[in-house]
Amino acid sequence: MDTKQLFEWSDKYLMAFTKRYPVALVRGEGVRVWDSDGKEYLDFTGGIAVTALGHNHPKVVGTIREQAATLLHVSNYFHIPQQIHLAKLLCDHSFADRVYFSNSGAEANETAIKLARKWAKEHGSSDRGDIISMRGGFHGRTLAAVTATAQEKYHHGFEPLPTGFKYVAYNDLRALERAIDSRTAAVLVEPIQGEGGVIVPDDGYLPGLRKLCDEAGILLMLDEIQTGMGRTGKLWCYEHAGVTPDVMTVAKALANGVPIGATLATEDVARAFTPGSHGSTFGGNPLATAVGLTVFSTMIEERLPERAERMGRVLRERLEAVHRNHPKAIKEVRGRGLLVGVDLVPPMADVIAACRERGLLALTSGDNTLRLAPPLIVDEASVDRAAQIIGQALAALK
Ligand SMILES: Cc1ncc(COP(=O)(O)O)c(C=O)c1O
Repeated sequence: MDTKQLFEWSDKYLMAFTKRYPVALVRGEGVRVWDSDGKEYLDFTGGIAVTALGHNHPKVVGTIREQAATLLHVSNYFHIPQQIHLAKLLCDHSFADRVYFSNSGAEANETAIKLARKWAKEHGSSDRGDIISMRGGFHGRTLAAVTATAQEKYHHGFEPLPTGFKYVAYNDLRALERAIDSRTAAVLVEPIQGEGGVIVPDDGYLPGLRKLCDEAGILLMLDEIQTGMGRTGKLWCYEHAGVTPDVMTVAKALANGVPIGATLATEDVARAFTPGSHGSTFGGNPLATAVGLTVFSTMIEERLPERAERMGRVLRERLEAVHRNHPKAIKEVRGRGLLVGVDLVPPMADVIAACRERGLLALTSGDNTLRLAPPLIVDEASVDRAAQIIGQALAALK
């Protein structure tokens, strides 16, 4: 089928829930993807921070083939060996004692919210259940996750929203201190706001959050769906701050594109779930968790968080050079590891389109930030090329 016909059918048969670029991607290899007309691109979107091992990774492909030919799906009425092994691996490499598996980031956050409310009722009064989240944050599109997402634009039209959510400014410990009361169960926060503009908080923010939560006897829940799995140069972003959460949500890169979500918790918190508390038909099925096992062990064996740190530094240096050449087009380059934001002066949609025409796929973020989240296996030549294309795109938009 030709590309024109594909786009016509896309317009006709799909719900128009998002605006799509005029590109249909059909093949990938490492950091590169090809569209239906054979045009090659450098993929610095990583499927929105998902394909950490790159496209078509031989180990991922091998696991999918093998697991699909052995046992694709059963249900959580049975013990699932791959799920058990992945849970152990996640616990061995994090603060957590137990894991619940689901199918997406939003679902991992829904689980965290339910877990926190159940925990709080067992550790306080029956009206304790409020979740405090941060303005500009993003936690997903299901009703509770979108309500925790403190941005009106995502709420509009979906009222009535669930109750029991409060919002405070990001990176503002005093505002949080004022907002915590006897009804608060937990704080839900991203260690770096990914969708909200790649906002990196002050160094003292996470330790400050930990302290406030401890003093109030409430849970600190970190949404590491975008920042986790090595993206920021450590396996988990909380490691930069030297504190641990009570609950953490993970998804995106955990199975490199096979849908999966995970909610990790300490023993004390995890005990709030008892048989019948929660559930999912697909969550943690043999395919998704077999791939998660392969991705997670490869990430550790190949020291990909360290590579993300190194390549992220190179990427930011190259972008700083572009900034020096185009001081009027770029306001700031920021980020950690391979989660990088470039605050733009020209409209981000124009810059993204100009990059795409030149063979670079990049993401938007916040109000006018170009976001780069390439696979963690990215090489220096691709980083150089990406920065060069951004420079050329900005020059063309002058
Ligand atoms: C920090 C964060 N939380 C939650 C989500 C939602 O994940 P999903 O789209 O898999 O539901 C995202 C997705 O971009 C995210 O970046």
